[in-house]
Amino acid sequence: VHWTAEEKQLIASLWSKVNVEECGAEALARLLIVYPWTQRFFASFGNLSSPTAIIGNPKVRAHGKKVLTSFGEAVKNLDNIKATYAKLSELHCEKLHVDPENFRLLGDILIIVLASHFARDFTPACQFAWQKLVSVVAHALARKYH
Ligand code: HEM
Repeated sequence: VHWTAEEKQLIASLWSKVNVEECGAEALARLLIVYPWTQRFFASFGNLSSPTAIIGNPKVRAHGKKVLTSFGEAVKNLDNIKATYAKLSELHCEKLHVDPENFRLLGDILIIVLASHFARDFTPACQFAWQKLVSVVAHALARKYH
């Protein structure tokens, strides 16, 4: 993947404003609410019985933060995303058996969270760069299926 200087700048400048704890929790909660079948991977997380329960669930919050923190590794290693996620791809594919379609869904959810938090910054060019990033991350995580 090639990143232009403008794309790199758009990604870095938006990322510098992101509160990983808050946006991570919101993204994972939205994934579980909007695509309820994803809940089956998180049976050990306790009460996921309603949107309110999901949003208030401390395990969802903590895991959302973990996932978005990990996403930050892609932001820091734009030219090396495949290698960055080699281990996590193994975990999600071979151990957790997460269907790769779910990586794409989480990427789109993240776009919506970012757009709603940073409406003014989220120009079409910024969205373009971020769509490209979530797509590259989803590919990297799905790599162990190929
Ligand atoms: C665990 C990252 C998407 C399901 C993890 C961990 C990280 C992570 C860093 C912790 C690994 C460890 O403990 O060593 C990511 C990233 C994603 C992503 C960066 C996409 C951008 C997904 C999706 C699902 C999923 C879409 C399912 C719908 C899980 C599960 C665990 C896990 C079930 C184990 C949770 C536990 O019991 O602690 N992920 N993940 N992940 N992930 Fe993901």
